[in-house]
Amino acid sequence: MSQAVMNPSLPVIGPNEFHLFRELIHRHTGIWLRDGKQVMLASRLSRRLRAHQMASFADYYRYVEQIQDDGRELRELINCVTTNKTSFFREPHHFAFLSGQLIPEMMAAAHGSPHAAAKPAVRIWSAACSTGEEPYSIALALLEAQQRWRWPASASAIGIVASDLDTTVLEKAARGIYTEDEIEGIDSTLLKKYFLRGTDAMAGQVKVKKQIAALVEFERINLMDRTWPLSGSFDAIFFRNALIYFRQETQDLFLRKMMRYLRPGGYLFLGHSEHIPWLHDVLEPLRQTIYRLRSTQP
Ligand SMILES: C[S@@+](CC[C@H](N)C(=O)[O-])C[C@H]1O[C@@H](n2cnc3c(N)ncnc32)[C@H](O)[C@@H]1O
Repeated sequence: MSQAVMNPSLPVIGPNEFHLFRELIHRHTGIWLRDGKQVMLASRLSRRLRAHQMASFADYYRYVEQIQDDGRELRELINCVTTNKTSFFREPHHFAFLSGQLIPEMMAAAHGSPHAAAKPAVRIWSAACSTGEEPYSIALALLEAQQRWRWPASASAIGIVASDLDTTVLEKAARGIYTEDEIEGIDSTLLKKYFLRGTDAMAGQVKVKKQIAALVEFERINLMDRTWPLSGSFDAIFFRNALIYFRQETQDLFLRKMMRYLRPGGYLFLGHSEHIPWLHDVLEPLRQTIYRLRSTQP
């Protein structure tokens, strides 16, 4: 969402309401709004005020606190507050690492396996997937690697779980439809191979092919929830450009819990400005924002 600017028609959010909303948002999402984010918050919540024809943030806060609607309004509020910027093949070195290192490594491990029929299967979690560009980029990178390394194909060889807490972005992700602007990061060969071009009413848009969509399973997971609906372990977790919205104690909580779902030697990918020096005894930094879960931990 773009930088908030002063809008004279916007109701003002006073220090008291800002404090109340900040605590509410933090309690339910882990997101921490720093001082100075009042104008941004007012701008993002203004559409909820309009939806309910309310004139003040104090009224809206009371409404959210009291309404008994199975958390629907709270989810609307949260959807307004999240920042969802993403793109296909954002931080391309992560996708090069998947095809150039992770897949060959897994094939070598399966080759040396005592089980003759062992076929490498790869499971990846995109833990803050926003509108889907990240998990679909992972799927494309893995399919391309599969062909490049002649990795024996099997329907269940690739499994990607993609989650977010924002229900609006998840709906868009599951549709898999993108505009010309949104597909800028994809090279033309991949576009031809893995996307369908829209015609008539859909002109100017593309849709991911079924073959790609079938590899990705979308799920609403709020990392703040005590339990996450996940089972088994992953070979890699993408948790990129989300940590920056949390304070260090929340980052630590989420990451330590995530590590329970990463197999030893599995990889964690963070965003370009995200660093976790206090966790290096658990997660070995390999290269720019790529970490490996140590097999033996202190
Ligand atoms: C900037 S996007 C990052 C998208 C993608 N990972 C990338 O790097 O391009 C951050 C995402 O984190 C999600 N998020 C924020 N708090 C979350 C939480 N508590 N649980 C799950 N997702 C959360 C937001 O909804 C948003 O879609």
